[in-house]
Amino acid sequence: MVKIAPSILAADCANLAAEAEDIRRAGANMLHFDVMDGNFVPNLSFGLPVLKSLRRATDMFLDVHLMIDRPIRYVERFCDAGADLVSVHVEADTPESLSAALDLIHSRGRKAGLVIKPATPFEAVLPFLERCDLVLVMTVEPGFGGQKLMLSALDKLRALRRVIDARGYACELEVDGGVTPETAPLCIAAGATVLVAGSAVFKQSDRAAAIALLKGI
Ligand code: DX5
Ligand code: ZN
Repeated sequence: MVKIAPSILAADCANLAAEAEDIRRAGANMLHFDVMDGNFVPNLSFGLPVLKSLRRATDMFLDVHLMIDRPIRYVERFCDAGADLVSVHVEADTPESLSAALDLIHSRGRKAGLVIKPATPFEAVLPFLERCDLVLVMTVEPGFGGQKLMLSALDKLRALRRVIDARGYACELEVDGGVTPETAPLCIAAGATVLVAGSAVFKQSDRAAAIALLKGI
């Protein structure tokens, strides 16, 4: 069954520990942690100290999405701060540094992922796919929650699903941005195994029902 990763960007950030516990009980499979640097994306969010505190507050799987330039500078620190998985954007660094970043994350005993923006072709991840535990296909321009999913991204999902299956990789395929009860089934049909959802979980009064709806149960 598809996994749901609520994005804490949409949570009550003054009460993150309680928010994490609430969505754990509601059936979430992991927590999605969006890091923005005001440079790679035109917005700022939170970083290492917040992740460290959240790590102490929950045993949920922490899925850290780095929307920062030259992420290689920070990946080890995010691993040490408690990330279970760290993903970096292919647009944010050179191929050599991306490769080194994946190695650094793995050397810290964490899972590693690559992310592509809507305008980036799926082929950009292929040279690294064998070493990816997850590929994240952005279905909105990164930077802000609450946007509409771009249906054009679904073709990339299908293409990646075909490659992952053909090569027999155990790589998760995640989508992020504009996931709703209407768009979730399209993402699942296109091959997604993890759905990030900010507004569609945290902004709902009955979060357990919201998560069940996204999972299709
Ligand atoms: C956008 C972030 C997303 C965002 C998703 O840059 O990467 O994780 O929080 O929010 P929704 O689900 O509301 O589109
Ligand atoms: Zn994200």
